[in-house]
Amino acid sequence: MSPTQAIALRQRLENHVRAAFAAAGLDPALGAVDVSRRPELCQFQCNGAMAAAKAARRNPRELATAVVAALAGVEMIAAVTVEGPGFINLLATDAAIVEATRDLAADPRLGVAPASPPRRILVDFGGPNVAKAMHVGHLRSSIIGDTLQRVLRFAGHDVVGDIHLGDWGLPMGMLIAEIERADPAAPWFAPGAHGPFPAQSPVTIEDLERLYPQAAQRAKDDPAFREAARRATAELQSGRPGYRALWDHFIAVSVGALRGEFARLNVAFDLWDGESTVNDRIAPMVARMRVAGHVEISEGAEIVRVAREGDQKEIPPLILVKSDGGAMYGTTDLATIEARAEGRFDESLYVVDQRQHLHFEQVFRASRLAGISGGMAMEHVGFGTVNGPDGKPFRTRAGGVMKLGDLITMATDEALKRLAEAGLAEDAGEEEKREVARVVGISALRFADLVNHRLSDYVFNLERFTRFEGKTGPYLVYTAVRARSLLDKAAERGFAPGALHAPGAEAERRLMLLMHGFCDAIAATIDKRAPNILCEWAFLFAQEFNSFYQACHVLSEKDEALRASRLRLVEASLAILDRVFALVGIERPARM
Ligand code: ARG
Repeated sequence: MSPTQAIALRQRLENHVRAAFAAAGLDPALGAVDVSRRPELCQFQCNGAMAAAKAARRNPRELATAVVAALAGVEMIAAVTVEGPGFINLLATDAAIVEATRDLAADPRLGVAPASPPRRILVDFGGPNVAKAMHVGHLRSSIIGDTLQRVLRFAGHDVVGDIHLGDWGLPMGMLIAEIERADPAAPWFAPGAHGPFPAQSPVTIEDLERLYPQAAQRAKDDPAFREAARRATAELQSGRPGYRALWDHFIAVSVGALRGEFARLNVAFDLWDGESTVNDRIAPMVARMRVAGHVEISEGAEIVRVAREGDQKEIPPLILVKSDGGAMYGTTDLATIEARAEGRFDESLYVVDQRQHLHFEQVFRASRLAGISGGMAMEHVGFGTVNGPDGKPFRTRAGGVMKLGDLITMATDEALKRLAEAGLAEDAGEEEKREVARVVGISALRFADLVNHRLSDYVFNLERFTRFEGKTGPYLVYTAVRARSLLDKAAERGFAPGALHAPGAEAERRLMLLMHGFCDAIAATIDKRAPNILCEWAFLFAQEFNSFYQACHVLSEKDEALRASRLRLVEASLAILDRVFALVGIERPARM
């Protein structure tokens, strides 16, 4: 028998309150119940009487009193009062709290209703550029995008994550030109050559990482090289076989390295598509747009005007085709929209630096104007910058670029220090210690990024992120490991979790109550595309769990039924923390 979907406590109360609004002749939609922000005063609150009074031009206290009267006899309510101008404060009975918590603990979805109807959602995130080292913007995109895709999937949506590699622009032509410069006689460069070309890549990832900055510098200094790079880009895009064969190697080598790096960060993509994937769509798409009259010539380039009357700020036209015939970043994005709309996505989310907001506004407008996006919704999920202590975008080495691998190594080293300071993982061997540190380090990186609202900038500070106290990933991991070890100790002594009983202490009651906030945190995270909401909730929950652990005897509890009940609560709390970890991409070491 599969357990039925648990209805969280707030929802149960809300169902009653809505019915009471209706019974009092008011709009039941106004009977929304919130968890009280001041748990010391009351558990739940409904502020709907004020809005109802406004609509009906009546006295809010009177209406609230009528609602309270209609709630008389509801068994799960221990107390309900009208406060101030017309707030309705509610207290659930312990019996109702226990019953709802029992259901929640038995529900693998932890009270989260499956999305109905499920939507087909594409999440465009990560977005690294081939051969160029990733920067912190790509790190944020990866962590936020990956978390959103996990949360949406858990909620029951049909989600496809696409890395959308930057693999088709001028940097590709620069690499080709740079390699040609060093070895002009190589088979890729023979004019008119059709192959077959060497199956062995002439470059390693290290070569690419060295060659790209070198070429970029050369392009700055040398107009002739710049021109050669531009021409190589155009020829690559129009399919010159030798260039394509060489470029295939760039992609294979880069993707190989990227796969490893992303796996280390617990980030996964369903699609490894890129700008190049839609190359064949570009010419027909542009031709159609010309015929439909959406394209204008301006200074030799073809543009789409996307400004609208009433725009608050100027929205410049989208450049579709440059004067040299080359496609732009926005052109590949438009063609990608066409492909995704054909792929029957209901929605396409772009988890990309907020500084690209205007770009997406232009692209979305152009796609709607030209009827490319069909019924697909599109949304830019922007994010702020990660800064170094100097307030400038963070870099790992003096002036140098950030490599994901270096970053993870740094986080692991820092976590090792924190573990030693806290006296954790002391009995572990070197290898296990390093593995625990890796898990803790990743938890630090991911949580620190996610706990800030995505649009805020934050300062990269590994020392702070890896602390075991405070609002950090390691604090959450430590809390969960502690819960696991408590359950293991109980099992060693032959104590098993049993039926949940009425809370014996306030800390226990609060922990039970807070559990029911998980589904609301998930809903709000999805609604606002804001994983910080889930992280904030998880932090509160870990704190509440630790308060419970301090205030209540578990293993040392003499009353057998109470002990079994508390073990059940620990087990349920761990299940919730583990679920959060699975959603934010954090692992839990077996011990530490
Ligand atoms: N490669 C781009 C960059 O590094 C990010 C790609 C974002 N996705 C997109 N569909 N434009 O800025």
